[in-house]
Amino acid sequence: MASKFLGLLAALPICINAAPNLLPRQDSGNTATVDLSVGARRGAPQNLASGVLYGIPDDPTQIPDHFYSDMGFNYARIGGAQLEQGGWIEGIDAYYARFNNTRDNYFQARKFGAKVIVLPHDIWGTDHANDSTVWPGDNGDWTNYDQYLDQLLGDLKANDMLDGLVYDTWNEPDGGFFWKRSQAQYLDLWSRTYQRIRQDTDLAEVLISGPSYAGTPNTGNDWWTNWAARIVADNTIPDQYTWHDEPGDVAVDMPQWQSIRSQYSLPDKEININEYATFDQQISAGAAWWISRLERYNLRGLRGNWLSGWQLRDFLASLLTKTDTNDYTGTGYAGNGEFNVYKYYHNNMTGERATTTGAGDGVMDVYATVDSDKARVLTGVLNKQGTWFITLNNLSALGLSASGVLNIQTWGFDDAGHFGAVAGPSDRGVYGHQYDGDTVTFPVYQTSQDEKTAWGFEFAVGG
Ligand SMILES: *[C@@H]1O[C@H](CO)[C@@H](O)[C@H](O)[C@H]1NC(C)=O
Ligand SMILES: *[C@@H]1O[C@H](CO)[C@@H](O)[C@H](O)[C@H]1NC(C)=O
Ligand SMILES: *[C@@H]1O[C@H](CO)[C@@H](O)[C@H](O)[C@H]1NC(C)=O
Ligand SMILES: *[C@@H]1O[C@H](CO)[C@@H](O)[C@H](O)[C@H]1NC(C)=O
Repeated sequence: MASKFLGLLAALPICINAAPNLLPRQDSGNTATVDLSVGARRGAPQNLASGVLYGIPDDPTQIPDHFYSDMGFNYARIGGAQLEQGGWIEGIDAYYARFNNTRDNYFQARKFGAKVIVLPHDIWGTDHANDSTVWPGDNGDWTNYDQYLDQLLGDLKANDMLDGLVYDTWNEPDGGFFWKRSQAQYLDLWSRTYQRIRQDTDLAEVLISGPSYAGTPNTGNDWWTNWAARIVADNTIPDQYTWHDEPGDVAVDMPQWQSIRSQYSLPDKEININEYATFDQQISAGAAWWISRLERYNLRGLRGNWLSGWQLRDFLASLLTKTDTNDYTGTGYAGNGEFNVYKYYHNNMTGERATTTGAGDGVMDVYATVDSDKARVLTGVLNKQGTWFITLNNLSALGLSASGVLNIQTWGFDDAGHFGAVAGPSDRGVYGHQYDGDTVTFPVYQTSQDEKTAWGFEFAVGG
């Protein structure tokens, strides 16, 4: 079988005779590292990347529960997007169609203990709006928006939806799609909404998040700098800072964000990349790359969602497929390749997180955990073919000797497309790597046959 043959390739050591001529030079640009030392442990895994934008069907019982628990589902972001009924701007019935959908999704998410980000721009109906429809604060008149807030906040209370709730002030006001008015009008909306929620003691436990910009933090982006200045001036600093990476890279974002934060003396708060990954990055390898990066910076993340219509509100943001993907009420759900990556991340990567570095080229990254029986390294190469390397340092911290042979089991997280069912990872075999100096380096082959495959490397820890 092809997979057996490739399994051997994936496990090739760098020391065998034929290999050195085939392998590119190993350097920091193409090598990710894992520090296994005890002092470099980073706490128990919390599956920071296991959130989903939309993806829950209108009938919340439709996807069997185990799919949610298998993937470690812990964050939802919902608002009845792309329902036929256009929300608040189309009247109270259309508002309730979206509110009810949000309510049903909320209780489904809470069954798994997930936090729930509510999207007021969806319940407003921005996907049915345009330049000519009413927007909050038009002509300086906030009456309609205030009524909307009273209605929505009142309904959230009346329906007992405050536990675990995050109120995401307005989605992507900078992106051109979900806000058709000025930046100044948006900043007024921000402060008005924040103050309205914080004046209501019933809502004290509700977290406020934002700005959920489409544009990543940048000191040269005045949506960011004017927002930072405004929230300091008005004392309307959210509980959770949010933005989107579609595309994007948190390794690039974080220094920019820290610059903005220090320039405006903003307090440190939880960060949630509440939409991450483009559609072409939603492959097994991409999932592992994103998990590695979000975990490194301790960032929460929710998978972006690139499906449309009712499919947007199904499939857990392209983690599932079903027997008939055109059937709204379809059954026969199955996980795709990415689903297996999240399942392994959740169920198998137990113990404590290790400190890692990604390859210097930004293309390959690793997430690693150490438990009492095994250490595990999840690896993703982002949409590129070639050869990369992983170096594991401080092996003796796991009770292993400083030199010898390390037997590493390789799992291939195959990918068969967004709607391609994959039963589970493929066993690519065990290879014994010679090492000394308390460190081992081994290659990762991202071949054309395996261009979307993520990798799991496992080895037993010493006694
Ligand atoms: C090995 O562990 C020590 C102690 O935690 C640490 O100082 C050192 O940086 C580690 N070495 C590598 C190469 O990660
Ligand atoms: C919303 O749910 C309420 C309570 O279940 C129900 O009375 C109402 O008819 C629903 N409205 C719509 C538009 O679905
Ligand atoms: C704007 O949206 C309204 C309400 O959906 C619709 O009636 C109108 O035709 C739209 N205008 C434009 C220019 O698309
Ligand atoms: C992950 O853990 C489950 C449950 O313990 C186990 O059945 C499965 O074989 C493990 N998968 C891998 C790839 O190790």
